[in-house]
Amino acid sequence: MKIIIINGPNLNLLGKREPDVYGAETFEDYFSKLQFKFKDVELEYFQSNIEGELISKIQETGFTYDGIVLNAAAYTHTSVGIGDAVKAVKTPVVEVHISNTHKREEFRHVSYISAAASGVILGFGLKSYDLAIESFLL
Ligand code: DQA
Repeated sequence: MKIIIINGPNLNLLGKREPDVYGAETFEDYFSKLQFKFKDVELEYFQSNIEGELISKIQETGFTYDGIVLNAAAYTHTSVGIGDAVKAVKTPVVEVHISNTHKREEFRHVSYISAAASGVILGFGLKSYDLAIESFLL
């Protein structure tokens, strides 16, 4: 089972960025815990602040991997290109958000990804990623 986590812009700053919203843990520390927890899963992690790089990674992994866990961060609410990439690939994509975007500003209520995703998990902090990985193992 090969699963990639793809994180979008500003998620490289987890731990430092608005800890009241996103928590105090870095993604690298959390990712080590995920690798420990899901020992039977080949887990990969990719982060970029650049929209086109996220699209390229979805295309690159989207025909051979068993699952993509995608937190497109702010691009969720703006990117037709990422939404189209999710539609184009064969690998199921689970959309993830750390915060409950529906409790926040109205512009965060829109997602260009949800309609193409196989599921959406949001609002459980970093645990949202655990739940997304588990969804591929059901
Ligand atoms: C986010 C929510 C987005 O609205 C925001 O732009 C992010 C992170 C989340 O994980 O809660 O950068 O995707």
